[in-house]
Amino acid sequence: MMIKSLVIICSTSLLIACSDQAPDQFTENTGGDQVEDIMVLKSDPARYTKGLALYQQTCAACHGNDGQGAANWQKRDAQGKYKAPPLNGTAHTWHHPQRILKQIIRNGTQRIGGSMPAWKDTLSDAQIDDVLYWIKSQWPNEIYNAWYRNNEEALKKQTQKGKK
Ligand code: HEC
Repeated sequence: MMIKSLVIICSTSLLIACSDQAPDQFTENTGGDQVEDIMVLKSDPARYTKGLALYQQTCAACHGNDGQGAANWQKRDAQGKYKAPPLNGTAHTWHHPQRILKQIIRNGTQRIGGSMPAWKDTLSDAQIDDVLYWIKSQWPNEIYNAWYRNNEEALKKQTQKGKK
């Protein structure tokens, strides 16, 4: 019964949405957990331009030019896979702290049964930060602020764990 209800929850949300604490590949520490306060986020046009260019080259084909996601992204296809979800603040992405977002991008989701390629051999750590900078700049302020608080919490927990 328990298992059945878990499966239902997981199949109605994204694959990734269910994997925050699960696979090992998402717990590796790649550093770079520092994030921008909202004033800074909205005020670095050079970084915005860099992030946008990288996003368009590497992500837009699946996630859409404005990060709006693929049509029918909530439905599995014939192979049981999902299409790329929106990254623009209307879906689930902002629930993930920086560290997890970077790990999803670095490692992709193919190894856990999804269809996003890994980017760690194509994009440097700094480039992944720049892409995320652009993605987050698309979020409405209240979404960004909620993400920021959530990220602070995640950082605190990480520090506590490190001390033990
Ligand atoms: C080939 C298509 C494809 C490309 C290209 C792609 N993605 Fe994805 N992405 C996906 C799919 C599909 C998912 C949903 C997980 C799954 O089922 O694989 C996803 C999930 C994500 C997630 C998690 C979203 C969430 O709400 O939990 C992030 C973040 C993400 N992608 C960022 C990126 C970035 C940044 C790039 C470019 C560097 C990129 N993706 C390129 C297909 C793609």
